[in-house]
Amino acid sequence: MTELRQRPTATSKSSNGPDKEPTSGQHSINDEASQDHGISLLDILRVIVTLLVACGGLSYYVTSSESVLWGYRPWYTRWPVVKQWVQGPVILTPSQLSLYNGTDTSLPLYVAVNGTVFDVSENRMIYGPGGSYNFFAGRDATRAFVTGCFKEDLTNDLRGVEIMFMPVEDVENEAVTSAQRKIRREKELRAARARVEETVKRWTGFFANHAKYFEAGRVVEDGGVDEEPLPLCESAQQQRPKRSAMVEES
Ligand code: HEM
Repeated sequence: MTELRQRPTATSKSSNGPDKEPTSGQHSINDEASQDHGISLLDILRVIVTLLVACGGLSYYVTSSESVLWGYRPWYTRWPVVKQWVQGPVILTPSQLSLYNGTDTSLPLYVAVNGTVFDVSENRMIYGPGGSYNFFAGRDATRAFVTGCFKEDLTNDLRGVEIMFMPVEDVENEAVTSAQRKIRREKELRAARARVEETVKRWTGFFANHAKYFEAGRVVEDGGVDEEPLPLCESAQQQRPKRSAMVEES
C-alpha cells in the first residue's frame, strides 16, 4: 500500500504533542510567523521619512515659513547663486558697476568692497532706491566702510585713511627724543594699517558670509585719473585717539 502524504496543519501540530519533533513543514510556518513580527527595511524607511517630514514641518513653522532646514541654505539651493556660478563671475568697470544701483529693476543690485562685487538683490529694502544704505549700491565705497563718512568717502581709495587710527599729537613738551618719536610713529602706523585691513576684511566677510548675499565677481579699474589722496573726513578725524589720553592710561 502506498503511504498517503499529508500536509501538516495547525491541528496536526498540536496533535504532535509537546515531546514530538516538528516536521519540516512546521519549520517554514514558524519562520513566516516570526518574520511577520520583525521590522523590515521598509518600516525603517517609513519611520525616517516621517521624522524628516515632521522635522521639516516644525522648522517651517518655527522659522515663519522661511526654511524647512532650520535656516540652513546651502548655496546650491539658491537659484540666483547657481545661475551666477553657471554664468561665471562678472567683471565690471566702476562705470559699468554704477548701473547696478537698483534704479533699473531688471538688473541685480550690487555692492562692492575692496574690488569684490556682491549681489545684494535680496535686500532691496536697505540697498535699493530710498533704502538707508542705497549709497553703497552700484559702487566700491571701501573707504566709507572704514571711516563711516557716507557722503565724502564713497570711493575705493584708501590712501591716507589709516590716519584715522593714529593718535592726535596733543601733548606739548613730551619727554621723548625725536628718534623715539620716529620709532613710535612707525609702530603706530603699522598698527593703524593693520586696523584698516582688518576693518575691510570684516566687511568683505560680512557680505561673503551673509545668508542672503553672494559673491558675483570683481571690479576692474578703467584707468581713472590719479587724483590727490583725500583728506581724512571730519567725523573720522574726530574719532582719532588722543596722545594725552594714551599717556594718562600708561
Ligand atoms: C563705519 C560705520 C558704519 C558702516 C560702514 C555701516 C554699514 C552698514 C551696512 C553695510 C548696513 C547694511 C547691513 C546689511 O546688509 O544687512 C548697515 C545697517 C544698519 N546700520 Fe550701519 N554702518 C555704520 C555705522 C552705523 C551707525 C553709527 C549706526 C547707528 C547710529 C548704524 C545703524 C544701522 C542700522 C539701524 C542698520 C539697519 C538698516 C536698516 O535696517 O535699514 N550704522 N550698516
